[in-house]
Amino acid sequence: MNYKFIDLFAGIGGFRQGFEALGCECLFSSEIDIHARQMYCENFGELPLGDITQIDENQISNHDILLAGFPCQPFSIAGEKKGFEDTRGTLFFDIARILKAKEPKVVVLENVKHFKNHDGGKTLRVILDTLNELGYATNWEVLNAKDFGVPQNRERTIIVGSLNGVKFDFNKLEKKSPVRIVDILEKDGKFDYLEEGEYTLIENPKRQPSGLIFCGYRNKNIRTKGTRENTQHLSRVHKQPNRIYDANGTHPTIASQESAGRYFIYHEGRVRKLTMMECFRLMGFGDDFKLIGSKANLYNRIGNSIVVPMVEAIAKEIKVQILNAQNKKEFIP
Ligand SMILES: C[S@@+](CC[C@H](N)C(=O)[O-])C[C@H]1O[C@@H](n2cnc3c(N)ncnc32)[C@H](O)[C@@H]1O
Repeated sequence: MNYKFIDLFAGIGGFRQGFEALGCECLFSSEIDIHARQMYCENFGELPLGDITQIDENQISNHDILLAGFPCQPFSIAGEKKGFEDTRGTLFFDIARILKAKEPKVVVLENVKHFKNHDGGKTLRVILDTLNELGYATNWEVLNAKDFGVPQNRERTIIVGSLNGVKFDFNKLEKKSPVRIVDILEKDGKFDYLEEGEYTLIENPKRQPSGLIFCGYRNKNIRTKGTRENTQHLSRVHKQPNRIYDANGTHPTIASQESAGRYFIYHEGRVRKLTMMECFRLMGFGDDFKLIGSKANLYNRIGNSIVVPMVEAIAKEIKVQILNAQNKKEFIP
């Protein structure tokens, strides 16, 4: 069946790619950032509407699935459990008011790994309580992109809610065998290599449980201010943009704050920067995905996005476990 979805906080459309790949159809999208909106339009032929707080829920078409990778904000609750009304003034409230008005069968929310600890656990609790109050059975899990066929250690909290009482079973998601950075590298092209002398390789690098192989660091100026004696060298080793990873392992998280794209890998005896296309491949975007705008904007957008094959795995199970389930009649009409 051709299920309909809406794409809130749409970014460059990571969620949309994954659900469209499973044959679902997007009816509405919203995104406030102009560069993301333009890139979305370039790729999906539709300019998302802007600020969700300014959009009347009754203007949105009825849909089966609401998707949202929304920014994390604390709720200012005095202590009394008021649920839905308590979320007013946050971007989650805009999700909740659309759920209330439109009653989609499924809601999928995405957030950072440590979402469960945000504001001492209150944020997640209020969100789950509000979804329950709106009639959704909920479950949540932290998923890692590296389990879904991309060589990136990227952990994200996923919440799935269903109106028919099904608690989404994350254990049934189809996992893929591990891939290495080397498997997604461009074969030829003009690569940005570091000169010998610009980096130091460590002896006996070890594969970490995450799959990362930290193997060296760039010889940047050492920040000595505020560091303890004899530990100065660690400041350059531990500063993420200075770290070099072996291409036979997994890549660390592509971060939205890293607008210079300082991702360095050790491959075939040399150290080079990942290309922009390789960064998009680490997020599971196809090579035909159109990239527009400045490099800084692109690095920011890709770091903010969601890993497409992980979304596809979720979409597939949502269809099986919730939407195609026998007890469809239990859905609120
Ligand atoms: C974590 S990103 C989600 C990215 C998306 N899942 C993707 O695949 O690219 C959150 C997005 O929410 C957008 N946003 C923040 N406030 C918004 C608002 N008031 N209305 C619409 N979008 C908003 C941000 O610009 C950002 O792109």
